[in-house]
Amino acid sequence: MSDRVGRVVAAFRERTGRDPDGVWAAPGRVNLIGEHTDYNDGFVLPLAIDRLVLAAAGRRDGGRLRLWSLQSGPPADLELAWIGPGRVGGWAAYPAGVAWALARAGVEVGGADLVVDGDVPAGAGLSSSAALECATATALADLAGAGLDPTALAGVARRAENEVVGVPSGVMDQMVSMLGRAGHALFLDTRSLAAEQVPLPLAAAGLCLLVLDTRAGHRLVDGAYADRRAACEAAAAALGVPALRDATLAQVEAAAATLGAEGAARARHVVTENARVLEAVALLRSGDLDRLGPLLAASHASLRDDYEVSSPELDTAVEAAMDAGAAGARMTGAGFGGSAIALVRAELAGRVGDRVREAFAAAGFAPPEVAPVAAADGARRLT
Ligand code: GLA
Repeated sequence: MSDRVGRVVAAFRERTGRDPDGVWAAPGRVNLIGEHTDYNDGFVLPLAIDRLVLAAAGRRDGGRLRLWSLQSGPPADLELAWIGPGRVGGWAAYPAGVAWALARAGVEVGGADLVVDGDVPAGAGLSSSAALECATATALADLAGAGLDPTALAGVARRAENEVVGVPSGVMDQMVSMLGRAGHALFLDTRSLAAEQVPLPLAAAGLCLLVLDTRAGHRLVDGAYADRRAACEAAAAALGVPALRDATLAQVEAAAATLGAEGAARARHVVTENARVLEAVALLRSGDLDRLGPLLAASHASLRDDYEVSSPELDTAVEAAMDAGAAGARMTGAGFGGSAIALVRAELAGRVGDRVREAFAAAGFAPPEVAPVAAADGARRLT
């Protein structure tokens, strides 16, 4: 870690001619289970991963926000008072959106320089955007001396994403990037925001969690995510419930004619997925990690068949992992590309990776990236 801190500090010095006031970091995530439930007031069970965005930041008078990224794109120099919805494009929209949302939460940012350096791959469905937002939010809030707790900062980061970046996401990614804990998954009720750290002792159980990055990038800003969200709201309205979180499978089945085949399938996914999260949490609480596999497999089938957000690459990755002996595998994140996860006995990890690579080659897909991930800590100040 000290190498990475040194690198971002050196980059800050080179660009600004002075030392930063500190370095902050926030992680990406994978979602173990509970997909497309967070904007239905439902349950999710993600974990923060050991891939981070680092932000070196320093206060600066004059009401401007200067931004540099060592990966993403050109620098930006923005007047804080000018930043707002629809005004900033590209990567700078994420940190600029956070500064805007902090101001809405009553935090006076004043002015700052920020240099970010990350190893959460963009477009892989591992929430590089939430990592960037949460690293920025912790940095700017600390610089301003604001006493916002992690849940409030997650709300700020989500507001930036929804209103300035323009993606109508739920709150899962920002909550886990703020609140994640090493060795734990985060059981989150997205209605009450009640959060529980659930132990995930993968190594002790002889298991390993692999990320199967299909390298087929997904784009949330396009319409499919918003379409799913609208379909869920319409189904909830037709069922007469505040959100699909409140619907039962029996209600969905009884209303199938009113909902239409597609609406019923979307609602069925959300209702059954919420139930799978609760089952998964019960298994983790009793230390029964071995029995998680079938829940992951059922989640993938539901996302593929009922919610229709998988892709040929994701299905290929999941099938190959299961063929090679994975306990369970599923797409993770929004879908339409991005990554899958596979829960595998540690001794099978090499074989699963090989099988996924072979299946991609046979299907004529570009090579995937297969790597283990560990459950890691959420956003924090490093120096
Ligand atoms: C994206 C969104 C999250 C969530 C997932 C799907 O990651 O940012 O809020 O909706 O998709 O579960």
